[in-house]
Amino acid sequence: MLIKAKKDVVGIDIGSSSIKLVQLRQAKGGYQLMTLGVAPLPPEAIVDNAIMDSGSVVEVVRNLVESHKVKTKNAATSVSGHSVIIRKIQLPIMTEEEMEASIQWEAEQYIPFEISEVNLDFQILGPDARDPSQMNVILVAAKKEFVNDHVAVFRECGMNPVVMDIDCFAIENAFEANYGFEEDEIVALINMGAAAMNVNVLKGGKSVFTRDIQVGGNMYNEEIQKRLGLSGEDAEEVKLGGEIEDIDAAAVMAVINDATESLAQEVQRSFDFFSATSSDEKVQKLYITGGVSKTPNVREYLESQLAIPVELLDPFRLIKVNEKEFDPEYIQAVGPLFSVAVGLAMRRLGDK
Ligand SMILES: Nc1ncnc2c1ncn2[C@@H]1O[C@H](COP(=O)(O)OP(=O)(O)OP(=O)(O)O)[C@@H](O)[C@H]1O
Ligand SMILES: [Mg+2]
Repeated sequence: MLIKAKKDVVGIDIGSSSIKLVQLRQAKGGYQLMTLGVAPLPPEAIVDNAIMDSGSVVEVVRNLVESHKVKTKNAATSVSGHSVIIRKIQLPIMTEEEMEASIQWEAEQYIPFEISEVNLDFQILGPDARDPSQMNVILVAAKKEFVNDHVAVFRECGMNPVVMDIDCFAIENAFEANYGFEEDEIVALINMGAAAMNVNVLKGGKSVFTRDIQVGGNMYNEEIQKRLGLSGEDAEEVKLGGEIEDIDAAAVMAVINDATESLAQEVQRSFDFFSATSSDEKVQKLYITGGVSKTPNVREYLESQLAIPVELLDPFRLIKVNEKEFDPEYIQAVGPLFSVAVGLAMRRLGDK
């Protein structure tokens, strides 16, 4: 994380299509859901992960926080995209403190940006299996300018962004709390959003490979618009199963399936790249989440193409949800949209 939490926080995920808000309470034996909210953003508010129209973003965050009567001013949020670089590197064994002192210098050769222009963070994974004099480290660098744009949104809403995380690590957090890890098992988590897919491969619970693929739900809409001659709004409508005069559901389904196919090819390419760069290790199981994971047949298609089990990641799997406050059917339906926000809402002081 680039900034760390002090107290209870509200998790706020600024996605390119909508903003999600989650508050959890640490109850006996786990978490309990306290607040859940989502509100759409206009399509041009966030482009290529960059906040283009901060006024709209501020307004949506503020309305969400106010309408859900969120008391805390402490927000946990996250970023992703080209302005964020995540690298697994090897360094001689050293302590956390030594690493802290030398990170600027060590990072220089791995980061394609000026070191003075980035916020840096790292996580020591442990000694390397083949060379115990070396340790593996996850290095994270995010452009300050980019992080500051996100920070500014929260400040304008009168909030303190006490945690600035990375989307794929927030998902990892939500996954760990809901599923746990098997030693040495290699699982991939993919957050399938509107603009991008965040891939994170974990071995025994530790991230060993991450990659952002710059395609997602928007590609479905673009294809539907192009091939069926619809507006952006109508494309979204038919994609989600709505009916529009003169548009045949089977034709929509054909476009959706083609888009799923190219999405699956991108996933396959990432997994091949992971294998090629990690002594031929293979992903054994895939969990998908994010809005696009709800696309009909996407889970089944990935399963048949990748020839590994594919499951939907349920971020509320082990979270207590009071049925008097939240409709279980609604939670089930919108669950995949909230994986990042749930992971963020779990962040507390001392997290690393
Ligand atoms: N039932 C569904 N079937 C197909 N697609 C869906 C469904 N529900 C949502 N989506 C799509 O999922 C996407 C939104 O997902 P999500 O909220 O995870 O993205 P985001 O966080 O806004 O985007 P990003 O993370 O890429 O910035 C949109 O493209 C939306 O059309
Ligand atoms: Mg998202």
